[in-house]
Amino acid sequence: MAKLFSPITIGPHTYANRIAIAPMAQYSADDGSMTDWHLIHLGALATSGAGLVMIEATSVEPMGRCSLGDPGLYNNENEAALCRVIEAMRRYTPVKVGIQLSHGGRKGSTALHWLGGQPLSTADGGWENLAPSALPFGTWPTPKAADAEDLERLVPAFADSARRAARAGVDLIELHAAHGYLLHQFLSPISNERTDAFGGSLENRMRLPLRVFEAVRDAAPGVTLGVRLTASDWIDGGITPDEAVAFAQKLEAAGCHYVDVTSGGIDPRQKIAVGPGYQVSFAHTVKQKTNLVVRAVGLIVAPEQAEEIVASGKADLVAIARAALANPRWPWEAAHVLGAPIEIPPQYQRASSSAWPGWTILAPKEAAE
Ligand SMILES: Cc1cc2nc3c(=O)[nH]c(=O)nc-3n(C[C@H](O)[C@H](O)[C@H](O)COP(=O)(O)O)c2cc1C
Repeated sequence: MAKLFSPITIGPHTYANRIAIAPMAQYSADDGSMTDWHLIHLGALATSGAGLVMIEATSVEPMGRCSLGDPGLYNNENEAALCRVIEAMRRYTPVKVGIQLSHGGRKGSTALHWLGGQPLSTADGGWENLAPSALPFGTWPTPKAADAEDLERLVPAFADSARRAARAGVDLIELHAAHGYLLHQFLSPISNERTDAFGGSLENRMRLPLRVFEAVRDAAPGVTLGVRLTASDWIDGGITPDEAVAFAQKLEAAGCHYVDVTSGGIDPRQKIAVGPGYQVSFAHTVKQKTNLVVRAVGLIVAPEQAEEIVASGKADLVAIARAALANPRWPWEAAHVLGAPIEIPPQYQRASSSAWPGWTILAPKEAAE
């Protein structure tokens, strides 16, 4: 039996297999609220067979959005829209749903990705960004360094969004502390030159992300809690795998259930050694030095590759992003390739005999209820 298709318990919930669909921004929200696009996009992924489908980076306050198309979770309309999406995903499938809570910090206020993703002028609806220090991302506009009032506001903003997410019925909440966004900006010496209790030593740089984690933990009991963290900034003077391990250990002590180990995004000067599974060794390092459940991500595209990662114990589960956009039934295909049974919705069961002869599907227990 393929390990990839064995269940895994992460905190309070058990997930049917070790495949997660990674969070992927869709730039399709309307005033922070998820739209019909999210319904069809996440609806398709709900039928993918993945044990966990992650909802994209969702901002905890309007200025934390990276674009005007980013979803947020800071008012009742946003919450109602999220509820609608989750209800649809759950109504027909036993999928578990996670949401990634985020704040773009100095990488906020940009045009939609397919319109170039460059900074948005105020005339086009943009705003001044917030960051740990007044240091721009490359040639982008200089952000405002967060003052005491901003810091006071941010922690409850994350907690409030977590409360809303739990109320909307998510199984899992993940904090985005990677890819150069606000929590990562606090962690990294590249973007954080503060001289107060939130900058300088690693302990100080971790202070805000850990406070946010604790506030989210307290606001959303009963959900799986995780953090997407960076193992390398790929630039001299940036975060190293050792610092990532230290952060993961602090998170574990604070009650975190899992981490997703990724890298990059803090500085355009980064030099990333990209290749198949290029971040898996980082995940393995964190796994060896903590008792956290660890999710690996980054150019994991072949079913055999995913199986090797979990079977060898380098990570406990994998996240699939672009490969799942190209093939939303990636987990079905992986089950076929690895000879593992998989549960699929009754509406789709006739696919089994026509697509891949010999493919084993399970009777849909929860899906039929
Ligand atoms: C369209 C798109 C949107 C993304 N949006 C997010 C996001 O909202 N949050 C996040 O943490 N990563 C985001 N990512 C990064 C992916 O989650 C993933 O880490 C990355 O694509 C590497 O995995 P892959 O090689 O399987 O694509 C995005 C990637 C893509 C392709």
